[in-house]
Amino acid sequence: MLHRFVVVLLPLLLLLPLLVASSESPSEDATASNDEGHLKPFGQQGPLHPIDSVDGFITPEEFLTNYVQANRPLLFRGGAKVSPAFEKWTDAYLSENTPPRPAGDVFIEHNKKENRSQRYSYIHFKKFLSIYNTSDIYMVSEVPSFLLKDLVVPFPLQCKYFVQGGLDTHVAWFSSGGTSSVIHYDDYENVNCLLRGRKTLVFLNTTRYASQVNSIIDKDDRGYSSADSDAIDVKARPEFSGLEFHLAEMQAGDCLYIPNYWVHQVRSFDNNLAVNLWWTKRDSYDTSGCGKIIDPDLRFSRVLFAARLKAARDDAYSIRQALASNLKLPVSQLEFLDFLSRGDTQSLSSSYPDFPPAAAALFESLDVNKDGALTEEEFKGKMKLKTGREIKAAATAYNVQVFAMHEAADEKDVSKLPKLLATSDSGEEVFTPERTWLTEEQRKSIEVAEKSSKDEL
Ligand SMILES: *[C@@H]1O[C@H](CO)[C@@H](O)[C@H](O)[C@H]1NC(C)=O
Ligand SMILES: *[C@@H]1O[C@H](CO)[C@@H](O)[C@H](O)[C@H]1NC(C)=O
Ligand SMILES: *[C@@H]1O[C@H](CO)[C@@H](O)[C@H](O)[C@H]1NC(C)=O
Repeated sequence: MLHRFVVVLLPLLLLLPLLVASSESPSEDATASNDEGHLKPFGQQGPLHPIDSVDGFITPEEFLTNYVQANRPLLFRGGAKVSPAFEKWTDAYLSENTPPRPAGDVFIEHNKKENRSQRYSYIHFKKFLSIYNTSDIYMVSEVPSFLLKDLVVPFPLQCKYFVQGGLDTHVAWFSSGGTSSVIHYDDYENVNCLLRGRKTLVFLNTTRYASQVNSIIDKDDRGYSSADSDAIDVKARPEFSGLEFHLAEMQAGDCLYIPNYWVHQVRSFDNNLAVNLWWTKRDSYDTSGCGKIIDPDLRFSRVLFAARLKAARDDAYSIRQALASNLKLPVSQLEFLDFLSRGDTQSLSSSYPDFPPAAAALFESLDVNKDGALTEEEFKGKMKLKTGREIKAAATAYNVQVFAMHEAADEKDVSKLPKLLATSDSGEEVFTPERTWLTEEQRKSIEVAEKSSKDEL
């Protein structure tokens, strides 16, 4: 009896204030509660619950068992403060230590309010630093290599599995604040550490709201919603009503675990800099190689990131294809330099002393058996990851040199010098337009080869 009383009466009691409040327009009574948060920001359409939080970190085993496998977000208060970056990364430090273009280039979005069709571009990190406080730009880019040594791997990820290829990639998120993301989910697991400013994340538990999430994430090929995160039109999109949300509030120095496929919307406030790690979810993790206490010397620079390895291998493959199709093989180191310098070895060497060493390093990385000649076999041979990385590193050094020569742009015409395909630390091809030094036919054959090499992986 009591039970029935509660079931019948409690909803009425809860509705009473609404009925009273809207008594002047009785026709809206029936829908009043469904319109909650209409045209308000995402997260105001229902109650907001906090997420779990801890001071500092928990052990990898606890984290993987109780949070990752259970799909529960978790806030690590103060977790980011162990990284030297937290104190060290002033704008002056970042700017002074940025390498020249293109190695020091970063990827930026042109609007702080994301909509996934805004413009993107590459700019030099120094340039970004000089304008970001006064422009509507958002750096969303791999952490530049020279900064990896300043970041400690969050303790819950200090396992052999993660350090040796289990982590895919890292991203730096940097702006003067006021960014706002689309409502989306990622198919990656994520730990995000905030070094400056504040962030809020509104979450929806995808497991709980599976069918509504299906409608909310209407751009499902890319995992985001077309809804305006600042003004949810609940009348047009009823899937946004009747929800309960979770809210994570990050202060500078906090880290946050975001489970894969949890819907989230992110806002940043104040001068804002965060770094996150992404990895692919597994059914189980080998925790035997996990640390028992935090190792503050385990930095990002010591991690083998899967995305970088794959990019290095793909790029090295393309570089070899491009060179092999232009060279008369076998070729000696001198002939190779002659080819790269377009027959102008003498004057290039005297004007740009770094050019021959960069070309020589590339030759050596390609000359697998170190006999001083590049052969057909070496271009066709099966590539180990290690050689892939060496070739990419050498090609990058060579490209940086050619790029510097372009920038210097004195009387010599360096525009004819071949640039190779992989150039940027962020894995993107800054020099894509410069592929014109290949013939159309050669380019096609490379594309085909690249495609089949990707299919093999
Ligand atoms: C995305 O934002 C840009 C810049 O504000 C705007 O020009 C563009 O129309 C927007 N696209 C959509 C689909 O809203
Ligand atoms: C998410 O929803 C599922 C299904 O309702 C529930 O079992 C789980 O506890 C929820 N997770 C959190 C963190 O609330
Ligand atoms: C940008 O603004 C922040 C304060 O919000 C300041 O600390 C920083 O030095 C500024 N950076 C530059 C390059 O002006």
